[in-house]
Amino acid sequence: MRAVDLIHKKRDGGELNSEEIAFLINGYSKGDIPDYQMSALAMSIFFKGMTSAETAALTLAMAGSGDQVDLSPINGIKVDKHSTGGVGDKTTLIIGPLVASVGIPVAKMSGRGLGHTGGTIDKMESIAGFHTELSREDFIKQVNDIHLSVIGQSGNLAPADKKLYALRDVTSTVDSIPLIASSVMSKKIAAGADAIVLDVKTGSGAFMKTVEHAEKLASAMVSIGSEVGRQTAAVISDMDQPLGYSIGNAIEVLECVDTLRGQGPEDLTELSLALAAHMVVLGGKASSFDEAMTLLRKQLDNGEALAKFREFIVAQGGDDSFVDDASKLPTAPYTVEVLSTESGFVQAIEAEELGLSAMLLGAGRATKEAVIDYAVGITLRKKVGDAVNVGESLVTLHVREQNENTAAVAERVKRAYTFNQEKPSERPLLLSVVTVDGITRYSE
Ligand code: URA
Repeated sequence: MRAVDLIHKKRDGGELNSEEIAFLINGYSKGDIPDYQMSALAMSIFFKGMTSAETAALTLAMAGSGDQVDLSPINGIKVDKHSTGGVGDKTTLIIGPLVASVGIPVAKMSGRGLGHTGGTIDKMESIAGFHTELSREDFIKQVNDIHLSVIGQSGNLAPADKKLYALRDVTSTVDSIPLIASSVMSKKIAAGADAIVLDVKTGSGAFMKTVEHAEKLASAMVSIGSEVGRQTAAVISDMDQPLGYSIGNAIEVLECVDTLRGQGPEDLTELSLALAAHMVVLGGKASSFDEAMTLLRKQLDNGEALAKFREFIVAQGGDDSFVDDASKLPTAPYTVEVLSTESGFVQAIEAEELGLSAMLLGAGRATKEAVIDYAVGITLRKKVGDAVNVGESLVTLHVREQNENTAAVAERVKRAYTFNQEKPSERPLLLSVVTVDGITRYSE
C-alpha cells in the first residue's frame, strides 16, 4: 500500500476502507508518512468528505494509537460527557455529582484550560488539598465506592489525533465535520466510556456558527458512536454569551455549589439538567428524558446532589468547608467594577473576548507553562436582554493588582458588550437533540 495512491483515491472522491485508513494513521503516527502527505489527505477529506464507515474507521484508528483506558472493573454503564468548549462552561462539576447521586458511575478524565476556555481540572484545583493524580486502582475504587472521580487526562490518549490536529491547525483543515467528529470521538472512545453525551455549542463563541452546522457535526458524532457500539446523544446549545455569571476558577466552583443547591443561574441549571438527563437515560436509570429530569430535579431539591459533591471533594483530598464558607476558597484582594458608558439593552456579549479577558487577569493560560491564579476572574452583572443605564456595572473584575493591565482588561470587557435600544428577542439556550433516531428541535 502507498500513501500517494490513497490520497489520490480520496482526492477523486473514492471511499477508503478500514485497512487503508489504519495504514495511513499508523504510518503517520510512526513518522513513516510525512506531514506533507497527511496535509494533502486532510485537504482531500476537507473537500470530499467521508462516509460514516470511513469516519468510524478513522476514529478507531486514532483511538487505538495510544493508551486505551479499561473501565471494565467499574460496575454499571459508564457514561461520559464532552463539551465542544465554551466560556464559563462549568457543567462537569454539576453534572458529575448530579448523575453519580442516582447511582450512575462517572469515571471522568478532564483537561486543563488553554487560551480563552477554562479546564475542569484547573477549577477543581482551586479547592485546598484537592488532587487529580490518582492511580488507576484508586480511580476505579473511588468510582465503585462513590460513583464519581475526576482525574487529569492521560498524556497518551489518541496521540495520532494530537499530531493530526496540530497539522490541521496550520493547513486550514480544522473545520471539516468528519475530521472534527473523529477527533472528538477518538479521545472519548480511548477514555473507555460505554455511552457518551455530547454538548455541542453553536453561535458566535463556538466552532459551529449555525444550528444546522452544529446538528451536522452532532449527527456525525452520534453515527460514529453507533458504528463503534457506544450509544451517543448530543444536545445542541447556544453559545452566544458565557454560561452562567462567573468566569475564572474559584468563582466558577462557587457558582457550581449554588447550582447544586438549586440556586444557580437559569441557563447553567437548564443545560446541566438536560445533559445529565440524557446521561441518566443512557445509563439505564430512567426510561425517558422527562422521567430523568424529574429524578434529577429531586436530587437538587433534596440536597443529594450537593452531598455527593462534598463526598467527591473529600475523597480526592479536598477541604469541603468552602461549601458553607466561600472565604475558604482563594479570594482576589481587589474588585473593580466595569461601568457602562451606554444605556439600552444588552444585545450580545462576545464570549471569547470575556474568556480572553479572564485569561489576561491570570485565570487562564496563554501558554501551556503559565501558572494560574485561582482567585481572579470575572463576574457578569449584565447578560443578553438585560436593561442597562449609564454608570451601571456590566461586570466585576476580581483582580490581584490594580494596574495598567486591569485598566486594559476593563476596556476590552466593555467592548465585548453591544447594546440596542430595543430588547432583543429571547433566544432559547437549548436548540436541539441528536440521537440515533434523528434530530429533534426543542422549538418544534
Ligand atoms: N476539538 C477537538 O478535539 N478536535 C477538533 O478537531 C476540534 C475541536
